[in-house]
Parts: sequence; C-alpha cells; structure tokens
Amino acid sequence: MNQSPKELIVKDKNSVDKYQLNEILNKTIFGDALKVLKKIPSDSVDLVFLDPPYYLQLPQKQLKRWNVKTSVEGVDDNWDKFESFEEYDYFIQSVLSETKRIMKEKAALWMISTYHSIFRIGTILQDLDYWLLSNVIWVKNNPMPNWLGVRFTNATETLIWAIKDKNVKGYTFDKNAAKKYGIGKVGANVWAIPLCTGKERMKDDEGKKLHSTQKPIELLKRVILTTSNEGDIIFDPMAGLGTTGYVAKTLKRNFIMIEKEEKYIKGIQQRFRDELIIDLENEKIKKDIS
Ligand SMILES: C[S@@+](CC[C@H](N)C(=O)[O-])C[C@H]1O[C@@H](n2cnc3c(N)ncnc32)[C@H](O)[C@@H]1O
Repeated sequence: MNQSPKELIVKDKNSVDKYQLNEILNKTIFGDALKVLKKIPSDSVDLVFLDPPYYLQLPQKQLKRWNVKTSVEGVDDNWDKFESFEEYDYFIQSVLSETKRIMKEKAALWMISTYHSIFRIGTILQDLDYWLLSNVIWVKNNPMPNWLGVRFTNATETLIWAIKDKNVKGYTFDKNAAKKYGIGKVGANVWAIPLCTGKERMKDDEGKKLHSTQKPIELLKRVILTTSNEGDIIFDPMAGLGTTGYVAKTLKRNFIMIEKEEKYIKGIQQRFRDELIIDLENEKIKKDIS
C-alpha cells in the first residue's frame, strides 16, 4: 500500500479548526466524527459509505444458545449503545447533515443497517432532502441463526443509495457492473455475499473477532465498482477496521476515513501493512499476509 502505518493516521486535535484536503487524503482521522466532520472542507468527496452504529437494543443479559447454552457473540459494543431512539436519531441526523456539506455536487452516499434502524435512517435521509435512488438487499449465505428460535433468522442487511437531492444529474452508475452483481439477467438489487469469515476476518490477540461488524471486502468492492470512478475520493466517517479505504485504495480510488476507537485504528494500521490484490477478472480477492 506504499504507506507506513504512521502516515496513515491523523490524530484529531481540538487545536485544529480546519483540515486541508491534502492533509487528510488517503488517511484515517482518529477522532469523533461529530467533531471531525465540521473540519473537513465542503464539496470534497465523490462517494460516501456510511456504516453507522445499528442501535441493536440488545437485552443487558448475555444471550445463550438454546441448545448448548453457550454464549452468543453479538454486537454489545459501547459504540452501539444509545439511551433512546431520539438520541440515536439525533446522532444520525447530525452526521448526515454535515456529510452532505462535504459531498461534491454529484456525489452519492450509501448507508447500511439492519431492520433495527434502517427505516429510521431512510426517514432521516428523506427529511434532509437526500434523494433515494435504490436500496440493495445484502443476503448473507451464512447468517447467525436466531438462537432462541423465537424469530426468523435475520439473513439480510439493507443498503440505501442516495444523492444529495432530487435535482442532481450525472451521478456515477456503472449499469454493467450492477447487472453483473445483481440477481438474474437484469441484475436486480439483491447481492448474495457471505459474512466476513476466515482469513479476511481480523482477530485480536486472543483469537476473537477484532470488530463485531467487519464488512466483507466483496460488499465494498461492489459498492465502489458500481458507483465510483478511478481517482474518486471515497469517504467513510465510521470506518471500523477500514474496509472501505482498504478496498478503495486497491481499486485505484482515494479515501478519507474517520474512526474513534483506538483498537480499530490499530487494526486499520495492521490491515494496510498487509498486501491486498483484487483480481477483477476472476472476481477473487487474494490476500498475502507478510
Ligand atoms: C458498524 S461499525 C463499521 C464497521 C466497518 N464498516 C468495517 O467494515 O469494519 C461502526 C463504527 O463506527 C464507529 N463510531 C461510532 N461512533 C463514532 C463516532 N462518533 N465517530 C467516529 N467513529 C464512530 C465505531 O467505533 C465502529 O467501529
């Protein structure tokens, strides 16, 4: 990736009022998106991928598998906790309004979430005058079962693809790529992609998942190839392990990311030390861990 792990990270400081684009291009800003977004110049980015907290509203007690009574490793991270829907909505609304300012005129935005919050997110997008172009259903062919057996196993997440407002013309869309990835001859808006597992899934020192919601490279590959061009700037204000920047760079795009948790910032540094090659012809992603 031709970038040392140190060069990749810009630690946000209260003393910084504004960033110049060249200071943050192909970098991850270590800080709180609510503060950092205000410091990024207007009309700067071509595509946004926003994978926010889901606000899963999980019960406090540990969830057990009904048959073997072992614990389920769900999303119980502090970054996913909010006091109420009002607090969550305010957070999403603040991020989305500032993000809109940073987007170039023809830029598009993708948001992803589960049924817990995607409907709220859709409403907030429309209330902010974003114009919804499509939704894509990500079907996981290896979902986590509903261990209690009281609901359908949730095997999908929804992505919303939107532009800044309904008058925007000339946004990027590669219809051939969309046909290639969607279901059936017409390339309908359903992407079947397994959850991120195996070598691709980053682990901590104890061998546990480093991040509870690391997105598959294949998902970001499809987002980026269908709705951006080489040389574009792809922006992710809640980067987690930096899947967006990692794939963007490999596909000859630029990126800017923000992440507030130090353990994930370290994960991003580690990830960019590894070699990644996306073989577009064979649609395979090869990863050599040096
Ligand atoms: C759903 S995860 C993103 C996962 C990511 N797409 C990946 O593939 O690894 C959401 C991320 O947002 C981060 N986050 C939450 N609130 C934030 C904030 N105010 N500023 C910056 N990052 C934030 C969390 O730490 C978490 O890593």
